[in-house]
Amino acid sequence: MTARFAGRTILVTGAGSGMGRAESILLADEGARILAADIDLGAAETVAEQTGGTAYRLDVADPESWQHIRAEVEVLHGLVNNAGVSFRNGIADTSVEDWHRVMDINLSSVFYGMKFLREPLSRAEGASVVNVSSIAGMLGYFSPSYGASKWGVRGLSKVAALEFAGAGIRVNSVHPGLVDTPLLHSGDGRFVAESLRSVPQGRVASPEEIAHTVAFLLGPESSYVNGTELVVDGALVAGGIYHRITTELAAGTV
Ligand SMILES: NC(=O)c1ccc[n+]([C@@H]2O[C@H](COP(=O)([O-])OP(=O)(O)OC[C@H]3O[C@@H](n4cnc5c(N)ncnc54)[C@H](O)[C@@H]3O)[C@@H](O)[C@H]2O)c1
Repeated sequence: MTARFAGRTILVTGAGSGMGRAESILLADEGARILAADIDLGAAETVAEQTGGTAYRLDVADPESWQHIRAEVEVLHGLVNNAGVSFRNGIADTSVEDWHRVMDINLSSVFYGMKFLREPLSRAEGASVVNVSSIAGMLGYFSPSYGASKWGVRGLSKVAALEFAGAGIRVNSVHPGLVDTPLLHSGDGRFVAESLRSVPQGRVASPEEIAHTVAFLLGPESSYVNGTELVVDGALVAGGIYHRITTELAAGTV
C-alpha cells in the first residue's frame, strides 16, 4: 500500500518540541517530506534528522522570516501552523508588551503563514492547512492574550477556508485540551492536577493523539472537511464542569 503522504511536502511550525515534533514524526512515517521550522534551529535540526526532512529557523512572529521560507518552497501540500506560547496571567497582570508578543506568536503567525504560503499551497493537488488553536479558543479562558489569540485562530481559519476554497486549499482548526508537552508543564504543577478533575477521560492527551488528528485533516480522508474546528480534549469542553460536580457529589467530597 502506498503511504498516505508519499510525495507530499508539509511544513510544520514549532516542529522542535511537543506536538509539532510528534506531528512531524508521524507524517514522515507516512511518507511526507517534512519542512521542520522552529525559532530554535537546533531543535528543528534534530527533528529534521529524525524525519529525513529539512530544518528551517523560522520566527513565526516575523513576516520577513516567512518570506525567506516562501522563497524556497515551490509546491506545498500541507501547512501546520502549530507554534505557540502560553501565558497564564489575567488582564490586570498582562503587560502591553506581553499582550503583543503572544498575539504575534499565536495569531499573526497564522495570518503570515497563510498569506505568504498561499501560492505554493495553491500549486498542490488537495492542499490542506491545519491551524492549532486550543480549547481556550472554544470557551472563556483566564488569560486574555492566550484566549483571544486562540479565538482569533479559530475565526481566521474560517475566513481562510472561504477565501482559499476556490484555489483547492482546505483550512481547519484543531483545539487540543491538555496535552503532555513542555508547554503544559511550564507553570505551577497544580494547574494540570486541578484541571484533570474536569476532564471526563481523566487524563492528558499524548502529543501523538493530536498528531493523528492533524494527519486526518491534512490527508485525503477529510477531503470535504473545511472551515471547521476539531476539538480533541477528552470531553472537557463538552461539559467537564458537570463531570466534576457529579463526581464530587458522588464521592461526598462537596
Ligand atoms: N500543550 C497543551 O496542553 C496545549 C493545549 C492546547 C493548545 N496547545 C497549542 O499547541 C501548540 C503546540 O504547543 P506544545 O504544547 O507542543 O508546545 P511546546 O512548547 O512543546 O512547543 C512549541 C514549539 O514552538 C516553538 N516556538 C515558540 N515560539 C516560536 C516562534 N516565535 N517561532 C517559531 N517557533 C516558535 C518552540 O521553540 C517549540 O519548539 C501551541 O500553539 C499551543 O498553544 C497546547
